[in-house]
Amino acid sequence: METTKQDRCNTSETGENMCFTFSRRHFLSLAGWGMFFAVILGFLSQIFGYKGFFYPRVLFEPSPRFTVGKPDAFPQISVTKLKSRRVFIVRSGNIFKAISVVCTHLGCAVEFSKAKNIFECPCHGSKYYRTGVNFAGPAPKPLAHFEMSLDHSSRLVVDKSKTVSTETELIV
Ligand code: FES
Repeated sequence: METTKQDRCNTSETGENMCFTFSRRHFLSLAGWGMFFAVILGFLSQIFGYKGFFYPRVLFEPSPRFTVGKPDAFPQISVTKLKSRRVFIVRSGNIFKAISVVCTHLGCAVEFSKAKNIFECPCHGSKYYRTGVNFAGPAPKPLAHFEMSLDHSSRLVVDKSKTVSTETELIV
């Protein structure tokens, strides 16, 4: 039995004819556009990532300049590793140095041996004197030394953005 246009129309209370004609062609067309936009949105979400479109992609790093406390916080003759800052504070009486923990060979973290009074790299065996100067192993140069100063409250300040020569010392 064939459906006529009149069969698909309803008469409203006001007497108007309300026809909903939704053919297979309309359905396929809508489905096609829907899939097209779904694919576009999928690509965009891959490119920008979740929330990436709305928030800037910024890396937050700690400041390279930081205070490490008053000089008295460090024993008279000592090597103190500040693990989170990746730096050693070396004190010899009233002389201070800030020495990097990063081995100059391939970047492993060196450790201080109290018994031998030297820095040793666990990766390939480089050795450094207490001053940070290399003397054994594949390390091509001394450990990096960073600028130290005192702030207005007489606290020690290390600035890892400024390297200094191995002879540079802070005398307090
Ligand atoms: S990384 Fe330290 S000796 Fe190779």
